[in-house]
Amino acid sequence: MKDGTEVVVKIRRPGIRARMEADLRLMRHLAALAEARSAMVRRMKPAAMIEQLGREILDELDFTNEGRNADLLRADLASLERVTVPRIHWEWTGEQVLVMDYVEGIPPRDPAVLKAAAIDPSRIAALGAELVLEMVLVNGRFHADPHPGNLLCLQGNGLALLDLGSVGFVSPRRQHEFLTFILALRSGDPGGVADMLATWSESGEVPREKLMRASERLVSRHGTGALVLNAMVADFFPLLRQEGLVLPPDLVLIFKAMVTMDGVLSGIAPDFDLSEALGRMRGKLIASRLQRLAASDKLETALLELSRVAEEAPRFLRAAAARMEAPPSPPARDDATAQAVRLAGWLVGGAVVLHAAAQLLVHWT
Ligand SMILES: Nc1ncnc2c1ncn2[C@@H]1O[C@H](COP(=O)(O)OP(=O)(O)OP(=O)(O)O)[C@@H](O)[C@H]1O
Ligand SMILES: [Mg+2]
Repeated sequence: MKDGTEVVVKIRRPGIRARMEADLRLMRHLAALAEARSAMVRRMKPAAMIEQLGREILDELDFTNEGRNADLLRADLASLERVTVPRIHWEWTGEQVLVMDYVEGIPPRDPAVLKAAAIDPSRIAALGAELVLEMVLVNGRFHADPHPGNLLCLQGNGLALLDLGSVGFVSPRRQHEFLTFILALRSGDPGGVADMLATWSESGEVPREKLMRASERLVSRHGTGALVLNAMVADFFPLLRQEGLVLPPDLVLIFKAMVTMDGVLSGIAPDFDLSEALGRMRGKLIASRLQRLAASDKLETALLELSRVAEEAPRFLRAAAARMEAPPSPPARDDATAQAVRLAGWLVGGAVVLHAAAQLLVHWT
């Protein structure tokens, strides 16, 4: 730039839009053919998946979307001081050209390279975990593809997020479900895991014993020790397929982003454990729920979420209470998770009371 600012100019490949549209038409056609022929394929809903993929790809081809996403995520993440999203130069940006600040950094691939540049891989890993949990579970808007080429480690142990063409959204309901799933898994509660799988099952009724079987295997393999999402998901998806379960696409996108980030972080810090990061985040998670309640313009959403939480509360509270009454430190649980479960119990208890209060309020007004 004239003022000396170094920028990066991203230019769309000529003719790419027409080619993508042609590819999508072909994929749509193939999906329709396959769905017409096989009930098994129909259950996987390939046509719907291609529709969603198509929308996302075409969105990514318009760089003004990427610029807007960058602005939104930068604002979302303003409280994380060590996280940078490059500034967009809107006066030079359009559908086919994106101009943003140049960021000096190193992709998180090799811990030795980071150390040589005086960057601490374990601090990057902790920040990366906080970042992905904040995006998914607090803000509900997340970088859908945080692979090492889309991240830069910065001096002072910071992280920059690049390539924001693809951003996923998480509804408060899904945030709650995802957290419940992880908490149930980590507290050795296959019944709780099975409840979540039943909620997510888009392929109709799956018999309870099948869900329990899948859940028990997940809990026995991933309920204790470091939470390695890569390994968990590598078990999780084949298991779901085997039992005839299909997850909703938005949930797959959440898992994909979390697994990608988890893979990157354990690549640079081998003893990285996502469950530790979850434990550290719990205060913030609760605060974000309470804040959502306090924001009056979102009262309706808050009430809706509360009523859902309240619906599930009896089972959840029972499970949490049973765990609190259990003999001290059962082997299947680490302390951070135990506390998280206890807090979740309080949260749900609070929600039940608030729900009742809210209902009274609705009656009176
Ligand atoms: N603001 C920036 N500052 C410094 N380097 C950048 C910046 N933006 C992009 N880069 C570099 O350019 C590479 C490609 O950028 P980006 O990921 O945005 O493009 P892309 O075409 O969407 O890539 P891909 O499809 O491979 O993910 C990044 O991996 C990074 O090395
Ligand atoms: Mg990229």
